[in-house]
Amino acid sequence: MKVPLAVPNLEGREAEYLQECVRSTFVSSAGPFVTRFGDQIAALSGTERAAVTCSGTVALQMALEGLGVGAGDLVMVPSLTFIASPNSVRHSGADVWLTDCTARDWTLDLDVAREAIEVHTEPDSRGRRHRTTGQMLSAVMPVMIMGASLDFDAIVRFARDYELRVIVDAAAAIGAAGADGAPLGATGVDAVCYSFNGNKTITSGGGGAVTSLDSDLVDRIDHLVTTGRVGSAYEHDVVAYNFRMTNVEAAIGVAQVERLPDFIERKREVFERYAAFAARHPDLSPFPTPADGRSVHWFSGVFYSGDDPDRCGDFAAFMVDRGIDVRPFWKPVHLQAPYRESVRTSMDVTERIWERIVPLPCSTGITDAELDYVVACATEFWNSQD
Ligand SMILES: Cc1ncc(COP(=O)(O)O)c(C=O)c1O
Repeated sequence: MKVPLAVPNLEGREAEYLQECVRSTFVSSAGPFVTRFGDQIAALSGTERAAVTCSGTVALQMALEGLGVGAGDLVMVPSLTFIASPNSVRHSGADVWLTDCTARDWTLDLDVAREAIEVHTEPDSRGRRHRTTGQMLSAVMPVMIMGASLDFDAIVRFARDYELRVIVDAAAAIGAAGADGAPLGATGVDAVCYSFNGNKTITSGGGGAVTSLDSDLVDRIDHLVTTGRVGSAYEHDVVAYNFRMTNVEAAIGVAQVERLPDFIERKREVFERYAAFAARHPDLSPFPTPADGRSVHWFSGVFYSGDDPDRCGDFAAFMVDRGIDVRPFWKPVHLQAPYRESVRTSMDVTERIWERIVPLPCSTGITDAELDYVVACATEFWNSQD
């Protein structure tokens, strides 16, 4: 049996909506599905508006630029994230201040961040200036790793203390919520950015979105992604981009949103299945799920806390040998070539945990038989290690 890691589930009305695009000739970035998808994503995020984009990376970049973050600025980003998060900062012209995560929930450690700010920055008329680089600390980009919720109240308090913008990388967290069920866009942050890449819970093939309660920000981003055009003639008021989502992509996205509740439910079932498996092995635990808020379990798997992290690589090889796609987790950003010289905090937790995180197959279309097979193979491996 072959079990992929995370593949799209396209058994809804995707083909029908795609045919509608072809029939209507609306295949480019103007078209009814783009508007409809934007409205759906805004509703899911608790905002009135969303700017849809051609990728999640671009959504993050546009949120930063729309908020005025760019050259001369520093943005705090957890090192334990996909490289797209820091790349978006660099694309905006700003630089990253890479930050350690907590062992509890694997996301940005606000205590470590606070201490770093107190030690390495000083107040300036424009905010907090980093002493050695002279750059202004302007924003923070918490990442909802694996679709897990965050303590948004704490993040917003932290941001207020240092006059920072908050751009949430919710690439994998569509449908998640903060404490008391607050939709992500209504948690007090400046912007929430999603990805609809093929491996996400819902996909548009490729794509992203920025949601915000600040409709002026969404307007600015719409303007930036549509070449800065003013009016209907070829008049442009800013050097901008062609970063729009196409109607073809949005058509797939609309069909996917229709099935989001079922997808989230299946992700939860997969999470619980692996959590039950992990509970039977003393060295294993499930991925963290904060008590507050609603997490959407984009990726599930096991965390190894035993003495020999090399066993994680052996486990992955054992599973691959049996046709099960298991890969290493994201290598932290501060260990990646383009970011080795970036400003950063200590990385004790990130360096200790990243090689111990083993994602397991978790497509929304995974069958019970496939799940049984994954768990049976994982059990065979870990029983042989006792
Ligand atoms: C945490 C995180 N941030 C950003 C992105 C970038 O999204 P995209 O691939 O749509 O550019 C991804 C996904 O790929 C991601 O997992």
